[in-house]
Amino acid sequence: MKLSQLKTPMILLDLDALEKNIRGCASLCSSAGKHLWPMVKTHKSTALARMQRAAGADGFLCGTLDECEALLNAGLGPVMYAYPPAGEVNLRRSASLAASGHIVFRLDSFEAARALSDALVQAGAEAEYTIIIDSGLHRLGVPPCGCGELYRRISVLPGLKFIGISTHPGHVYSAINAEDVKIAAAGEHEAIREAIRSLGFTPPHVGTGSTPTAPMEADFPEVTHMHPGNYVFMDRNQIINGTALEGDCALTVLATVISNPAPGLYIIDAGAKCLGLDQGGHGNSAVKGFGRIIGMEDAVIESLSEEVGKVRAEGLGVGQRIRIIPNHSCSTANLTGWYTCIRGDEAVSLIEVDIRGNSNKPVID
Ligand SMILES: Cc1ncc(COP(=O)(O)O)c(C=O)c1O
Repeated sequence: MKLSQLKTPMILLDLDALEKNIRGCASLCSSAGKHLWPMVKTHKSTALARMQRAAGADGFLCGTLDECEALLNAGLGPVMYAYPPAGEVNLRRSASLAASGHIVFRLDSFEAARALSDALVQAGAEAEYTIIIDSGLHRLGVPPCGCGELYRRISVLPGLKFIGISTHPGHVYSAINAEDVKIAAAGEHEAIREAIRSLGFTPPHVGTGSTPTAPMEADFPEVTHMHPGNYVFMDRNQIINGTALEGDCALTVLATVISNPAPGLYIIDAGAKCLGLDQGGHGNSAVKGFGRIIGMEDAVIESLSEEVGKVRAEGLGVGQRIRIIPNHSCSTANLTGWYTCIRGDEAVSLIEVDIRGNSNKPVID
């Protein structure tokens, strides 16, 4: 079917751009001798994880236990859970995943480690873990200089096997150009080196990753595992920080102009429930509005209601269709059940977003 015949709004996935992005990152990692364990929360789809696996990814980083479970069930392990599991129910579930599959945990406190160790022992399971270090995002993680001390405290706990360190330089998303990205990556590298110094030895697993810093991380000799996620789709944030060009962006929203209430003001049929309200997860002064209309760099999507958006632009017309690169494609992807895959101006297939947040039927009895 031609794009012109598709209903709007619709979330499109350009397969040519997607495949190029998947190949590009896989080849960056393999030529640098790094394992690629991409973050799957970007696309939340086992079909896309399979494409990444076919290109060379030999493990996956997951943002939720649902993602861990789905990938293990699909035979796509090993998986690593990006955040410390906590609370009785999540711990029991984590231990049961460890009893039946290869899941690596990330920890940043002795309390969380002790609770996980107890749950593992109770389930008769063992699991590998890494210590999260803070490389500049100031979210999770111990200061790099505290890594050795936490490792030594956790090492007495049964059920847990230390394999290394993990970090995510998410502070890079305040970057507004390639120079800022390099500065964030330099800080990330120094944090990794400091954590290794505090351990007193180089562990077998040193994992880090973000899409903008990936080319630099490939050159960090200590790094063994890379965890970029957004690279499969790219988005307007990556255009702003100099990582992507418009043509690299694989995920777009197809929308129709439905009204022209005043000169230069247009209403489109894509709102917050399609594009997402994300203006850069970690704050970026250069992100204005809610996406970039392809071929109309000066247009501004200035506000979004639930189902419609307000665009300041010249030269649009009621009934006209536009394609929008979202600010943050990971958030937009979570707002659809299906990617409509396109090649050129043809819609050619559908991919289910089968591990979408909160879309699993909950168990209540
Ligand atoms: C812990 C962690 N690792 C890796 C990534 C991947 O980063 P990016 O999407 O910039 O490639 C993320 C993304 O938010 C993350 O939270």
